[in-house]
Amino acid sequence: MKSRIIGTGSYLPENIRTNYDLEKMVDTSHDWIVARTGIEERRIAAADQCTSDMGTIAAQRAMDMAGVTADDIDLIVMGTITGDYPWPATACLVQENLGAKKAFAYDVSAACSGFLFALSCADDFLRSGRGKRALVIGAETFSRIVDWTDRNTCVLFGDGAGAVLLESQEGDSGVLSCHLHSDGKYFELLCQKGFGAKYPPSVEGIGAKLPFITMQGNEVFKVAVRSMTQVSKEALTANGYTSADVAQFIPHQANLRILEATTKRLGLTKEQSFINVHKYGNTSGATIPIAIDEANHQGLLKEGDLLLSAAFGGGFTWGSTLIRW
Ligand SMILES: CC(C)(COP(=O)(O)OP(=O)(O)OC[C@H]1O[C@@H](n2cnc3c(N)ncnc32)[C@H](O)[C@@H]1OP(=O)(O)O)[C@@H](O)C(=O)NCCC(=O)NCCS
Repeated sequence: MKSRIIGTGSYLPENIRTNYDLEKMVDTSHDWIVARTGIEERRIAAADQCTSDMGTIAAQRAMDMAGVTADDIDLIVMGTITGDYPWPATACLVQENLGAKKAFAYDVSAACSGFLFALSCADDFLRSGRGKRALVIGAETFSRIVDWTDRNTCVLFGDGAGAVLLESQEGDSGVLSCHLHSDGKYFELLCQKGFGAKYPPSVEGIGAKLPFITMQGNEVFKVAVRSMTQVSKEALTANGYTSADVAQFIPHQANLRILEATTKRLGLTKEQSFINVHKYGNTSGATIPIAIDEANHQGLLKEGDLLLSAAFGGGFTWGSTLIRW
């Protein structure tokens, strides 16, 4: 049995924040942002919109594509680090919104690798027979944890959600492998320090901007390229394929320079590599399912095609999956 993607969906908030908008907020320029990141604009959730709202729409769209109802869902796994509340899990809110009463639901915290870590969990459940259909969602409202006065980080991130519906099926199509890695020694290079048990809520903590993202961009960049290349090769080797066999490489959309460096090291062509970072920026755990949905709607994924995906994020965490479409 394999976990086959039978539906995809995504949701991007309507509100577009361009680089020119950011020029009015911090000391930056459109040209600098495009040259260093490839990002031209990003989406920002409306004031009354949360991660669960966006995740619900993306999930419903994936279910509609598959012709599946909420009663058919056994499991909902959500990759997010910007949930509506510290707890309960945002996946539970999505479950309630969808009316997926028989599904069990939980979140996975693996930052920008969250979707692939969630996919791996769902695939394991389905292959072990613990369910027939799983929703795997990546959804983030990063605009709420970005310091909009910090030019080092605020130009990079955006909001959005994507989802895939997995069904356990016999045959050649489906998830062929998931490879996951973590290295906690880098945790401080990319993190949100408050508020948790280490730094509980306090007025001083707010003054010190602990609830916002902090990042050492240069260091993150180097490890990201190395890790995504290594884990992509791991996926290909484990399944007996080479880069030439890949129809679409859908990497985590963090930064165009990271994507281009990784693609080059893997020996993949531009035509093999899906890129939409210029439109949405880095939506963390949501980038890969949004990109899969866009590629699917553009007809870039045909039955039998090999889809390679790789992600990297805070933790550090990194992972890959190889899927036969
Ligand atoms: C953040 C990033 C774009 C910065 O690009 P960089 O080429 O590494 O630039 P540096 O950090 O060396 O900064 C160079 C200069 O640009 C400045 N700068 C930083 N952000 C700027 C901005 N938005 N606009 C203008 N100047 C900026 C810096 O202050 C620095 O100035 P200085 O030389 O006077 O100190 C890049 O490091 C990056 O993309 N890293 C990965 C981030 C990421 O993807 N994180 C998520 C991973 S999942």
